Amino acid sequence: MQWRDTKKSYGWLSIFLHWLVASIVIALWCIGDWMQSVTSNDNQSLVGLHISIASSVWLLVWARIVWRFKSSHPVLDGQNRFTHFVGKSLHYGLLCAIALMLISGPSMVWSAGLPIKVFSWFSLPSPLGVVPWLNQLASQVHGFCANVIVVLVLVHISGAFKHLMFNDDDTFVRMLVTPKEK
Ligand code: HEM
Ligand code: HEM
Repeated sequence: MQWRDTKKSYGWLSIFLHWLVASIVIALWCIGDWMQSVTSNDNQSLVGLHISIASSVWLLVWARIVWRFKSSHPVLDGQNRFTHFVGKSLHYGLLCAIALMLISGPSMVWSAGLPIKVFSWFSLPSPLGVVPWLNQLASQVHGFCANVIVVLVLVHISGAFKHLMFNDDDTFVRMLVTPKEK
């Protein structure tokens, strides 16, 4: 069983983290977007749900980001330096935007002087009190990075399906299974 990445392929840990965190990020994004367009009562419960889910997976998402930067980035067969650089930069850009969401989200809640409530399990009181400039900055960063994530994820998914349908390579498959041992 190949758990770790090699120079040319992803291991099971990367594959598992990719799909798990991709689903979480898409779900958080959808709830985040949805809560902007509902009435204020529904908005409060959706914001609570968004914050609870995001806080529960906060460490996992950080672990996934750190793992990719530590484990480097496998090179595809036939990929030249330029195309590898483009793919890798897009992935790292996406991870940086997600990291900023993980920082700006809690900053937004705490700088409003509010606690971060994780379902009805526990609550983390604000260590900051009310800090209006930080609240405004965090809110702008969160909204901006949410837009960056949509664009990058759409480019990413289109690229993945382009490889699956039009290029004769293993880009898509290597994010589903590890290579067969020879
Ligand atoms: C990758 C993780 C995350 C994603 C993809 C995400 C996504 C979103 C999106 C799309 C919005 C709507 C933004 C807008 O259009 O202005 C939003 C708002 C928000 N998010 Fe996140 N978020 C994430 C993490 C977090 C975290 C960790 C927290 C706090 C613990 C958080 C707290 C909030 C709050 C308080 C709002 C504003 C709610 C309001 O309208 O009052 N988010 N998020
Ligand atoms: C249906 C949706 C998705 C598909 C089909 C997909 C497909 C793929 C494929 C085929 C690769 C390998 C590409 C390569 O190494 O050159 C990959 C890597 C990657 N994907 Fe996705 N992806 C999806 C959603 C997402 C989402 C939502 C995120 C953001 C969290 C994401 C982040 C990444 C990153 C950072 C990599 C680089 C390797 C890694 O760290 O896992 N993907 N994806």
